[in-house]
Amino acid sequence: MRACVAGWGTAVPERRLTNAELEARVDTTDEWIVERTGIRERRIAGPSETTATLAVEAATAAIKHAGITPDEIDLLIIATATPEQPIPHTGAFVGEALGLRCGSFDLAAGCAGFVYMLVTGSSLLATGDLRNVLVIGSETLSRIIDPADRATCILFGDGAAAAVLSPSGDDGRGLLAWDLGCDGSATGLLEIRAGGSRLPASPQTIANGEQYLKMSGQEVFRRAVRAVVDSAVTTLDRAGVASSEVAWFVPHQANVRIIDSAANRLGIPRERTIVNLERYGNTSAASIPLALAEAAEDGRLRADDLVLLSGFGAGMTWGSALLRWGTP
Ligand code: ACO
Repeated sequence: MRACVAGWGTAVPERRLTNAELEARVDTTDEWIVERTGIRERRIAGPSETTATLAVEAATAAIKHAGITPDEIDLLIIATATPEQPIPHTGAFVGEALGLRCGSFDLAAGCAGFVYMLVTGSSLLATGDLRNVLVIGSETLSRIIDPADRATCILFGDGAAAAVLSPSGDDGRGLLAWDLGCDGSATGLLEIRAGGSRLPASPQTIANGEQYLKMSGQEVFRRAVRAVVDSAVTTLDRAGVASSEVAWFVPHQANVRIIDSAANRLGIPRERTIVNLERYGNTSAASIPLALAEAAEDGRLRADDLVLLSGFGAGMTWGSALLRWGTP
């Protein structure tokens, strides 16, 4: 038994933050941002929008699309780097809004979070004890970005995307192979220093701006390409599939140059690579499912297509998954 995506849904804030607006705010240009990242605009949560409200909107659409009711969901997992609160976990808020009483937990694996959820949900479905697992990548990264830091404020955006995972039939569809990893020697490359047990929040940490995301962009870039390529190759090898057989490559949407460089090394052309970061920027755990859902929605993904997902993120984590596309 394999898990396949039975339904999907997305939610993004209405408010668009364009490169032109950022030009007026920090020392940058539209030209620099487009050339160095590929990003043209991102969505920013309004005052009443949070990680949980975006997750609920995406999940409601995914449940409807899967043709089930909330009481048929047996487990809820939310991948996020921007939880609703430190305590309780975001799943508690989302489960309550959806009317769920099943188990729920948050999963922290940075931008690789969706692939981690796919593997976790799929493995639990394989026990035969669950009917459907709801997985949601949801982020409000605008709440942890220093608006004055031009190295990060141009990159990140807010959004959510959800998928209902259900057991496949005997048609060979679903999750075929995967690879997960984390190199914890690189924790300092992408981090929020304050607010945890190591450095509790204090007036001093706030004065130092340590509540904000800090990133060593060049080093993250270098490692990201390597992580995506190595992890994707491992996954394809495990499935016995050549990259030429992959119909669609759905990478984490961080920087178009990372995507092009990884796709190039994998031998996957741009026409078979899903890219939507020009409209959303980097939405961390929401980025892969947002790209996947858009491609499924507009008909690019066809039944039985081989779809390769690959992400990397803070940790540094990485994760790849190969799916044979199709609903149960
Ligand atoms: N506008 C104009 N100039 C800028 C900007 C900006 N917004 N940001 C940096 N610069 C300057 C730098 O200060 C530097 O100037 P200098 O040469 O005078 O020192 C110059 O541009 C080049 O800077 P680099 O850091 O070398 O630029 P690079 O080409 O590496 O692009 C970027 C920076 C876009 C951050 C890139 O390194 C990147 O995308 N890294 C990966 C980031 C990423 O993927 N993060 C998330 C991964 S995990 C997750 O998604 C949570």
